[in-house]
Amino acid sequence: MSEEITGPALRITIEGKSFETSASVTILQAYSLAGEPLLKNVGCMGQGVCGSCRCMVRRAGSREVTTELACETLVQEGMQVSFVDYFTPRRPHVYQIEDVRDSWRLDEQLNELFPEAKHCRHCSGCDRACPKDIQVQRGVNLAVAGDIRGASDVFETCVMCNLCTLACPEYIRPNHVGMFTRRAVSALGLRPNDLIARLRQIESGELGIDIEAVEEPSA
Ligand code: SF4
Ligand code: SF4
Ligand code: FES
Repeated sequence: MSEEITGPALRITIEGKSFETSASVTILQAYSLAGEPLLKNVGCMGQGVCGSCRCMVRRAGSREVTTELACETLVQEGMQVSFVDYFTPRRPHVYQIEDVRDSWRLDEQLNELFPEAKHCRHCSGCDRACPKDIQVQRGVNLAVAGDIRGASDVFETCVMCNLCTLACPEYIRPNHVGMFTRRAVSALGLRPNDLIARLRQIESGELGIDIEAVEEPSA
């Protein structure tokens, strides 16, 4: 994450605190540069792949609240931001990917694991919530219809931020439906190219993890 502040100064509110920052930084950078400890709501340190920095954003002059990733959203004058914590669902969907062996039965398996998915009411709440512009509703509906590969493709860029699950009135957990389809396709065939590329980056040292950037919680 860049530590440089350039550009015109502006004022934003994050988690109820007002900060002066610069127009050239993201919400997450502004929070960090203000000296706030990044003890939660951050995972990949600004690479846009972990979904941990999910937040609600209200822009000056607008009544609309949008859901975005703090590490991918540039600050704007008067912006108000609240991070959205992770939550543990009442009914987790539990399965072993080793049990996903029969491609002829994948649609049945998916509907057994995610019986809520067929109750999608097409409200598009998940689509509006998604900071990655994924056609979440379409992905869920493809999965229910048995197009597991098609659904897997739809969810290819999902970062598991959980915002679609929070938005769903039918408790469908769309991102976990998508994760099941991606895992199933990988377990039964070729691995996703973005996964291969990222693992190679980690192995070669091109993608490093800055341990120093994570502060220890105070006792
Ligand atoms: S599909 Fe859901 S979990 Fe995945 S990026 Fe979009 S909102 Fe986040
Ligand atoms: S939020 Fe839930 S019910 Fe609404 S379209 Fe998305 S998956 Fe369907
Ligand atoms: S910190 Fe990982 S997506 Fe923003």
